[in-house]
Amino acid sequence: MNYDELIKTAIDMTKRSYVPYSHFHVGAALLDKSGKVWTGCNIENAAYGPSNCAERTAVFKAVSEGVREFEAIAVVGGPEGPDGQAQIQDFCPPCGVCRQVLSEFCNRDFKIVLANGKGEQKVFTLAELLPESFSL
Ligand code: THU
Repeated sequence: MNYDELIKTAIDMTKRSYVPYSHFHVGAALLDKSGKVWTGCNIENAAYGPSNCAERTAVFKAVSEGVREFEAIAVVGGPEGPDGQAQIQDFCPPCGVCRQVLSEFCNRDFKIVLANGKGEQKVFTLAELLPESFSL
């Protein structure tokens, strides 16, 4: 599968990040099983703890609209440059909390798509990024 469009949407979403504390912009684009894309950005908070990652923003938007079946998520991120925008350099893999949230709704073969500033892509399954995951 070609994930270029999904990555492009994730890159666009870094412009919506609210990151006055870390100045690290992350965008996510979550593809559901019907083909619809749910977008997310990271949203920080002065109390730090309430901050939300881009991936979870996208998942929570979809689930709160009744969608629970997903194919793939693209995630990109990078530090803020002098222009106030993300400088996409390295791959930005999802944090452990987001992997666990994805595992609540996604199959083991759900794809996590990463892109760096050189135009390279990496595709992992959720099983690869969260082996032996906890569930009830
Ligand atoms: N962040 C994400 O949005 N997704 C990740 O998977 C890793 C981290 C955000 C959280 C925080 O706003 C900033 O990146 C720096 O940690």
